[in-house]
Amino acid sequence: MTVGTGVTVRRATISGASAPRRRQAAHRLLRALLAELLGCPVPDLVLERRVCPGCGGPHGRPRVRHPSTTLEFSLAHSGREALVAVADGIRVGVDLQVVSARRDLDRLARRILAPSEREQVATLAAPDQHRAVLGAWARTEACLKACGIGLEVPLADLRTGPPAAGPRPVEVLGHRMTVENLVTDRAEYVAALACGLQ
Ligand SMILES: CC(C)(COP(=O)(O)OP(=O)(O)OC[C@H]1O[C@@H](n2cnc3c(N)ncnc32)[C@H](O)[C@@H]1OP(=O)(O)O)[C@@H](O)C(=O)NCCC(=O)NCCS
Repeated sequence: MTVGTGVTVRRATISGASAPRRRQAAHRLLRALLAELLGCPVPDLVLERRVCPGCGGPHGRPRVRHPSTTLEFSLAHSGREALVAVADGIRVGVDLQVVSARRDLDRLARRILAPSEREQVATLAAPDQHRAVLGAWARTEACLKACGIGLEVPLADLRTGPPAAGPRPVEVLGHRMTVENLVTDRAEYVAALACGLQ
């Protein structure tokens, strides 16, 4: 997977018969990468959630509580894949989506794409439409995770623009960041990375 400088991204296939098991496997991937970068044993790591900037509840951006560090991270899991990004001192957000034909694509497209982008997507063949809309959805979720806020915000105000060859600067809820779709080696997934700008 290709990423900009200064951000470590790791993707892995996660096994497990149930969603909770696969979630546990994704957390093992996250903890292993953080422990490796921090040079500490995995069991010593303590992660916690910040407060949500939207409502003050305990479901904001996750962070490392112990050991003390400036590393920031983000986690996504979908289907049988997990994706983790870690960066020093900058907000990151990652998202991963299984490209599925079962989604209500039009409704999703209306939530996150500008009218001109929807017209462009409508000219594509069906499988490419799914990739385009879900790729945009992954960019949106990556940005929201970098902000630390969930899907409760009005998404009409959050446009990540059409797909670009590399990181695209965007401003989301007052945070300046770049967002890009990541190149995955599995055609049935789309992924995105958002990184805060200083
Ligand atoms: C962040 C969010 C958009 C991702 O959801 P998703 O697509 O279902 O799941 P993903 O696999 O892509 O990502 C899940 C991971 O995102 C991370 N995450 C959760 N909340 C987050 C937040 N506020 N900011 C950044 N990352 C967050 C966690 O690491 C989570 O993994 P975990 O649930 O296994 O601990 C969704 O969890 C959300 O909206 N969370 C906040 C919602 C909320 O509680 N709102 C209440 C009203 S304000």
